[in-house]
Amino acid sequence: MEEKELILNNPDALQRADSLDMFGALYNLPEQCLKAWQMGMQCALPERRDYRNVVVTGLGGSAIGGDLLRVYAGDRMEIPVAVNRDYLLPLYVNRHTLLFAVSYSGNTEETLSAYDEARDRGAAVVAVTTGGKLGERAARDGVPQITVPPGIMPRSATGYLFLPMLAVLSRLGLLEDPAGEVEELASVLRGQREKLHPGVPAADNPAKQLALKLYNRIPVIWGASATSEVAAQRWKGQVNENAKAPAYWNVFPELNHNEVVGFEAPAELLRKLHIVILRDVQDHPRVKIRMDITRDIVEKAAGGVSEVEAVGDGTLARMYSLVYLGDYASVYLAVLYGIDPGPVKVIDHLKAELARR
Ligand code: PA5
Repeated sequence: MEEKELILNNPDALQRADSLDMFGALYNLPEQCLKAWQMGMQCALPERRDYRNVVVTGLGGSAIGGDLLRVYAGDRMEIPVAVNRDYLLPLYVNRHTLLFAVSYSGNTEETLSAYDEARDRGAAVVAVTTGGKLGERAARDGVPQITVPPGIMPRSATGYLFLPMLAVLSRLGLLEDPAGEVEELASVLRGQREKLHPGVPAADNPAKQLALKLYNRIPVIWGASATSEVAAQRWKGQVNENAKAPAYWNVFPELNHNEVVGFEAPAELLRKLHIVILRDVQDHPRVKIRMDITRDIVEKAAGGVSEVEAVGDGTLARMYSLVYLGDYASVYLAVLYGIDPGPVKVIDHLKAELARR
């Protein structure tokens, strides 16, 4: 057995490498999702208004739930959902906007700025946070607050930072009740974790196998618009934050109109890439064909190509199944690089420097 595989097959080594117990948080994700859904079903609601758009404002691990919501709502809601990752809000935000201000720590300055702006513009606001300054401002302003449990990394809290928003939209009548899909989501994730957790050897563990393929390569993750796009973006972010390594993502069909042309580059450069294609049963039939043709084009040049298929019947389960696999793979990749997956010192440094200036 290869040396790297031996590392992944040693549960003690995996545990020692993971000072913040990212593996534990991953294992608990199905229960987190169910709890998060209940929190959203029980929280205070914003007032019922003639809402014309929904905006989720947040950054990094606190923004990806907004993308899950945007994609899920895309063909289920009559008003648009947008994700804002900036200090400022788009001009259309006004009293007809329902805005979720999401910050796990509650102290992210871009989110606090957008929160203040949303309040000034008269938008209905819901805060999703463990507390911090966002929690203080929401309490001061009498804004409904979904207080999520502290103690994990923001990117380990996707259930808390996504499902309560879904519940609120459903309770406001903006979205059909997805309770059945939430149940299925938890059951699909429970099934997946039994194949992905650290105790399962690499030979039987798809996340460990992917990490071994991505090791010493630059991951390039390709999803499809309106289905696996969030998972592709999430994989990239998780490789960045957990494995502390570069990664890139793109979507079909757009990448067929630019990125694929880049595969005429020198072989030495292309060999460094490992392409992962995320597939979903709901991908547009023409996109499925595009994926096949594109694979033929790039696999002669790239260092490797892998394909992953979403699991489950409902959209929630399928989207999250891809996210879950990537989350596990990125933590295994961290261990292969000898990196502690949890701490993100560079982000902490940036926030500390910004606070000083
Ligand atoms: O995953 C992380 O730790 C980051 O991407 C954070 O989510 C990001 O910096 C924003 O912080 P917060 O989630 O506390 O608003």
